[in-house]
Amino acid sequence: MLKYKAGKGEKAMIVVGVGVGPGMLTEEGIRAIKKASAVYGAKRAIELAQEHITCEAKTIKDYKSLHLLPADAVILSTGDPMFSGLGKFAGENDTVIPGISSMQAACARTKVNLTNLCAITAHGRDFEPAKAELIQELRNGRNIFLLPEENFGSLEVAKILKELGIEAELYTCENLGYPEERIAKGSPDNPPIAETILYGLLVVQKR
Ligand SMILES: C[S@@+](CC[C@H](N)C(=O)[O-])C[C@H]1O[C@@H](n2cnc3c(N)ncnc32)[C@H](O)[C@@H]1O
Repeated sequence: MLKYKAGKGEKAMIVVGVGVGPGMLTEEGIRAIKKASAVYGAKRAIELAQEHITCEAKTIKDYKSLHLLPADAVILSTGDPMFSGLGKFAGENDTVIPGISSMQAACARTKVNLTNLCAITAHGRDFEPAKAELIQELRNGRNIFLLPEENFGSLEVAKILKELGIEAELYTCENLGYPEERIAKGSPDNPPIAETILYGLLVVQKR
């Protein structure tokens, strides 16, 4: 049963995490999508939820205008909405339904424990804050899952690891959940290189 925080008669936005690949939607997410009168999301998010959508689905590109959508809109977010996703636009009365994130899928594939793992995003933004956070958390002994950016990916992270003298395993986890899924493993001296932009980088320190 879905629990909405909005008061009686009041409508609220629902942000549904659709997972990062096919078949990763939860039953809670499917129920919300099936009940929706209008569904909005990026093309890939709509594709991932397509078989459960019974109403009109509209592609949105300008996420800053989410507040202009109908109050009872269902917004689809790839992966988990609270990991560099659309959950950041949810207000107090809105609901966020979790989805399987790239970090969870990558850890499942590589069998790396989620504990001691620090999630960092450089996706779609200036990478300098992500770089500073990465260096600090590596020094703290944490493993890292990074959502990379065009100019801040496996090669740049490998260089940082070498400068810090940290031994680690690096994994590029690409197209998780899709038939083209590809996991490549390397080291700071021989970093894995992703073939597409849809990847997450896992850094596992050697102890
Ligand atoms: C806007 S962020 C959204 C992250 C998402 N909310 C999550 O929980 O993983 C988009 C980035 O997530 C990563 N990503 C999303 N789907 C992926 C997939 N199927 N395989 C690998 N990485 C993925 C990529 O780094 C991509 O550039």
